[in-house]
Amino acid sequence: MIYAEILAGGKGSRMGNVNMPKQFLSLNKRPIIIHTVEKFLLNDRFDKILIVSPKEWINHTKDILKKFIGEDRRLIVVEGGSDRNESIMNGIRHIDKEFGIQDDDIIVTHDSVRPFLTHRIIEDNINAALQYDAVDTVIAAIDTIIASEDKEFISEIPVRDTMYQGQTPQSFRIKRLVELYEQLSDQQKSVLTDACKICSLAGEKVKLVRGEVFNIKVTTPYDLKVANAILQERISQ
Ligand code: CTP
Repeated sequence: MIYAEILAGGKGSRMGNVNMPKQFLSLNKRPIIIHTVEKFLLNDRFDKILIVSPKEWINHTKDILKKFIGEDRRLIVVEGGSDRNESIMNGIRHIDKEFGIQDDDIIVTHDSVRPFLTHRIIEDNINAALQYDAVDTVIAAIDTIIASEDKEFISEIPVRDTMYQGQTPQSFRIKRLVELYEQLSDQQKSVLTDACKICSLAGEKVKLVRGEVFNIKVTTPYDLKVANAILQERISQ
């Protein structure tokens, strides 16, 4: 089975004082998360599309799905977890409970607040995940990356050609991801907030898929303005 999991379990604290988590804020009159879900629904290779949402926003999530998309047997809303990886795992626990997990089942996980991903990025993730156990979506670093251990002075300037910026989707063979996650201590779990990092630190080959500069994550009010500008430009074209 091929699953998609749209991560909407966060509270969006860096968005500042808004009355709902950022994934529910509007982008051209429709919630950001709806734009994202629609991109996944357009791909018929997905058997199920899970959406993880904070407990207190589950009803709201179901309501807006009904309002903007209607009934779709592939959509499943699940409660999120205490951090991003726990949200991913809650979705996987649900899959295990409802459908069981087969050896070759894969999952394409994606931030609900990256509404501009493309069909090509999704396809590349599915194809790569069917071949490799872990897949990350990246773009080449635009700025030079400066590393500073003490936050005061430069400790390293890595060669820019080898630097990338991580985006999502991140995709996995489910059984392998679960195996690696379960090996971590609680302390490691709290530090390893990136699911691909869990795989890479365990020596797993993580295949890179090319993202897009416009596949931005809406994190701050500034990002919301940029997202609106991207959308307006597309509408006017
Ligand atoms: N996410 C999640 N479950 C969590 C935390 C985050 O599913 N417990 C999701 C968010 O909803 C978001 C994505 O992971 O779609 C990327 O995370 P981030 O941008 O950091 O979202 P928030 O945690 O909501 O934002 P902030 O860090 O500003 O609070």
